[in-house]
Amino acid sequence: MNRYTDKVAVITGGARRIGRACADWFLREGAYVAVNDINEEAGHAFADLCPDRVLFVPGDVGDRAVLDRLADETLARWGGVDFLINNAGIGHFGILSDCTYDDFLYIQRVCSAAPFYLALRFRDFFRPDAAIVNISSIRAHASQPNTEAYSAAKGAILSLTRALAMSLAPKVRVNCISPGWIKGWNTGLYSEPDERQQPVGFIGNADDIAAAVCFLCSRDARFITGQNLNIDGGMSARLIYHGEFGWTFTPPTHPNA
Ligand SMILES: NC(=O)c1ccc[n+]([C@@H]2O[C@H](COP(=O)([O-])OP(=O)(O)OC[C@H]3O[C@@H](n4cnc5c(N)ncnc54)[C@H](O)[C@@H]3O)[C@@H](O)[C@H]2O)c1
Repeated sequence: MNRYTDKVAVITGGARRIGRACADWFLREGAYVAVNDINEEAGHAFADLCPDRVLFVPGDVGDRAVLDRLADETLARWGGVDFLINNAGIGHFGILSDCTYDDFLYIQRVCSAAPFYLALRFRDFFRPDAAIVNISSIRAHASQPNTEAYSAAKGAILSLTRALAMSLAPKVRVNCISPGWIKGWNTGLYSEPDERQQPVGFIGNADDIAAAVCFLCSRDARFITGQNLNIDGGMSARLIYHGEFGWTFTPPTHPNA
């Protein structure tokens, strides 16, 4: 018997890349999946592959009505939920470019208000051994210039994880993953040094994250809640000073440097 036979997993941003890899892992393990995505074409194409096991709910998770539809349709079809994967996330805007007040708020809605609201909508419908996995980013822990909106949102989902873990214990375990550089939108645009700078020697892929999501949802992780896992090839663990590893410090050129 597969690990997740007849379990129900809800995944936002689940039609492509990391979210899709998670959906594929849950399907392989016997689960039903409710997938949301703003990309309707990719979502319908995925659901058409396996219509009896995949429910596709299109729309932007920054829109509360879409979240209500995702919860309502999931519960109407399966009556409960076992795993919630808050994966959809966007935006690298910051203070040095054209990030407006509304842009900033929108990114918080997508990356942290949506995960909170879905947890709230499913709160009374989680089945025994349920788990939530929130997808943050290594950018919640370290920053490059001009990334305020995304960094703030990814920091929020990290703290939200701990708070939800306490509120929903012992019924639901809640953990977080902070991915580093994962192959995706920029496939083919990175160089050999981009890969070799990672302590593991390569850039990760969506399955590296999906494998950990599935582990955190499993009974093998029954003693783990309120935690964050950096999955970044070791980048966040590396301490580096000027003159080491052939790296030279070049002073930043942005206006406030
Ligand atoms: N790829 C990376 O290097 C990386 C690194 C750190 C963190 N992350 C985080 O991992 C998660 C997934 O990353 P990815 O690279 O697979 O993302 P992606 O940009 O490829 O998007 C994944 C899916 O989410 C959908 N999506 C985007 N905005 C949405 C919205 N507002 N509502 C519903 N669906 C939406 C997209 O259509 C896509 O199918 C995100 O939260 C991202 O911030 C990614």
